[in-house]
Amino acid sequence: MSIAEQIMKWKQEKNAVILAHYYVDEEVQEIADYVGDSFYLSKVATNVDAERIIFCGVEFMGESAKILNPTKRVFMPDAMADCPMAHMATKEEILKVKEQYDDVAVVCYINSTAELKTYADVCVTSSNAVKIVRNLPNHNIFFIPDRNLGHYVSEQVPEKNFIFNAGCCPRHVAITEEKVLAAKAKYPNAKFAAHPECTQDVLAHADYIGSTAGIIDYVVASADQEFLIGTVDGVFAEIKKQAPDKILHTIKEQQVCVNMKKVTLEKVLDVLEHETNEVFVDQDVAQKAMQPLTRMLALAK
Ligand code: 13P
Ligand code: SF4
Repeated sequence: MSIAEQIMKWKQEKNAVILAHYYVDEEVQEIADYVGDSFYLSKVATNVDAERIIFCGVEFMGESAKILNPTKRVFMPDAMADCPMAHMATKEEILKVKEQYDDVAVVCYINSTAELKTYADVCVTSSNAVKIVRNLPNHNIFFIPDRNLGHYVSEQVPEKNFIFNAGCCPRHVAITEEKVLAAKAKYPNAKFAAHPECTQDVLAHADYIGSTAGIIDYVVASADQEFLIGTVDGVFAEIKKQAPDKILHTIKEQQVCVNMKKVTLEKVLDVLEHETNEVFVDQDVAQKAMQPLTRMLALAK
């Protein structure tokens, strides 16, 4: 039996459902029941019937799935697959900003630890941040942890005052303006689609800015044929599936998320079979972190 066949067998036996982010390897996306961006996967996680969720992604995703669906057992194929940006804000900084501004809303990108979410008024993902922030009653917005997504949102919602945090995604900031200009010179007919975790100077050259799902939809629906992709190359798999004729280029070599890459078919099979790497969140933390997550789901509708 192939690994994929064994996964299917164990999945049924264990009454499990497999969720995968677009950044994991194509062969992992292929065995998943649901593949999507962070927002889609967090919605799926609240609605699954299965007893067990295998989350092919990074820690904050498994944690959010567990918080949103506490009666389910959630497992991560690789317990060390973590998003470095999720840790790039501090409780001290949040409390300091809260003291300085009385009507401040702490807007927390879902790429954050459960602990950080406990200090948030609302969570957002890259696909709903603009809509949610625009509709918040607060004038002052402290956006954590990603300064780049924060800057992008602030440009779309100029009527609000933003306080930024220093965090960033090491993978997206490695897509530099210099590399974008070189790629544009090499492929002059290509349209450039970028994730808002890229820096402002890079986004200034983009024909489209959006979440992973947004980028996929843009490329698939576009009348153009050739694209430069300013995000992790895991999105290529879904684009190729929906629009096999499109020509796709990365901006740089190795445009991967090393943590998402830790998820392999062998590890998916292993957690299904042996029930290792189960996600547990402290009850008090989970209760507090659930509020901004459920508020996000309500406000994004
Ligand atoms: P999405 O919101 O597009 O899924 O992005 C998640 C992510 O980790 C980007 O680096
Ligand atoms: Fe985190 Fe960046 Fe990987 Fe997304 S691409 S999971 S933000 S390290």
